[in-house]
Amino acid sequence: MSLSIRIRPGHPDFLDLPWERSLSSWDNPNLVELPKGLSRHEVRFAAYPEGLYAIKELPTEAARRDYEVLRALETSDVLTATPAGLIEGRHPDPGSEHSAALVTVFVENSFSYHELLTGPGFGDRRDQMLDAFAGLLVELHLAGCFWGDCSLSNVLYRHDAETVDPIMIDAETALLREILSNGQREEDLEIMILNVAGGMADIAASQGVAVADADLCLGEDIAARYRALWQELTEDLVIGSDERYRVTEKLRRVNELGFDVDEVDLLPRNGGGQLRVKVKVGGRNFYSSRLRTLTGLDALERQARQILSDLHYYQAQHGAVSATAKSVAAVRWRLSMFEPMLEQLTRLEDIGDPLQAYCDLLHHRYLKSVERGADIGTETAFESWLAEGRPNYAGHRVGATGIGQPGAAS
Ligand SMILES: Nc1ncnc2c1ncn2[C@@H]1O[C@H](COP(=O)(O)OP(=O)(O)O)[C@@H](O)[C@H]1O
Ligand SMILES: [Mg+2]
Repeated sequence: MSLSIRIRPGHPDFLDLPWERSLSSWDNPNLVELPKGLSRHEVRFAAYPEGLYAIKELPTEAARRDYEVLRALETSDVLTATPAGLIEGRHPDPGSEHSAALVTVFVENSFSYHELLTGPGFGDRRDQMLDAFAGLLVELHLAGCFWGDCSLSNVLYRHDAETVDPIMIDAETALLREILSNGQREEDLEIMILNVAGGMADIAASQGVAVADADLCLGEDIAARYRALWQELTEDLVIGSDERYRVTEKLRRVNELGFDVDEVDLLPRNGGGQLRVKVKVGGRNFYSSRLRTLTGLDALERQARQILSDLHYYQAQHGAVSATAKSVAAVRWRLSMFEPMLEQLTRLEDIGDPLQAYCDLLHHRYLKSVERGADIGTETAFESWLAEGRPNYAGHRVGATGIGQPGAAS
């Protein structure tokens, strides 16, 4: 088999590298030494004018799978290393360790659990980091990806303002399916629990700590977080037909967990006395573009999310279940609710940002509905909002435990 170098546009051609030789013997001037996590295969880093790259040597089939899965996940919401190229035919035997190589874009400004745990530790970000790890696995599973090797060293972290983004870097064991069964998800969790225990034991050993004192149950903690998150994102909620404000609560809880809601389905139950609420979890940061498509308006992501929850609420109120009914309801919502109310708000004195005022009004409507235990209309909420001196809820956060309690927002 002859050498084949497949490179995606925008990257160097990597023709300067001696692909026929094993990575450990390379001494090319572009190679750089950088810290890396535990790895099964040889990994080297190379610097080019186009950027930094990680090069991993592995058997052909594993390399192909790694490359294909990372490519496929690019259209999902899961953050992964970006595949840049696949090199095959480095050795006549495709099963040989040296037969192929995968090139990924180096994830800059990232760090691994290993670096963190052997350095400063989690500190007060422990919950955030573990939630992020669990969240990555949930996102992968929602995207139909069975990882097969979720471990501390196959994830990198990057700080993004207040949040931390987990990034999947090693997909050579992953499989993509239309949908994963509960058994497959559980199997992936089992693998993760074992891998994490192994990773923690390694860290303890490298620090001279007795294995008995290592936190070998960390993976179980992550699994518990995963299960809670999965449940919140996928469970069906049953509500009374006059309790549609609880849809808002549900959306808010999902948003608080860092996920966006793509669609809400409301299915009548018990002869219409109850509704079953099904939430379809969408990507991150898609609200502002969706709002722009619908209304032509530019809003901040947080505002757009709140305004679109109003659309979902409206669709719920009007029993829009089919895709067509939802589209019709979206147009009606814009013409009969959103635009007239935005215009009323724009006409008020001292309104700097009418979209923010709209969000404040929506939040006010929500609080009043909770207080009454039943839906109140937007007009009634508007009068009450004016009467109370247009309370400003900018920056409010409703924690999962505070939801549903009158005045929970602050
Ligand atoms: N794109 C990348 N950016 C930054 N570091 C990377 C990248 N790819 C791999 N690494 C580093 O190399 C290590 C091993 O990579 P990985 O893909 O997990 O290989 P293996 O299959 O050998 O486990 C990772 O823990 C990480 O530190
Ligand atoms: Mg790995």
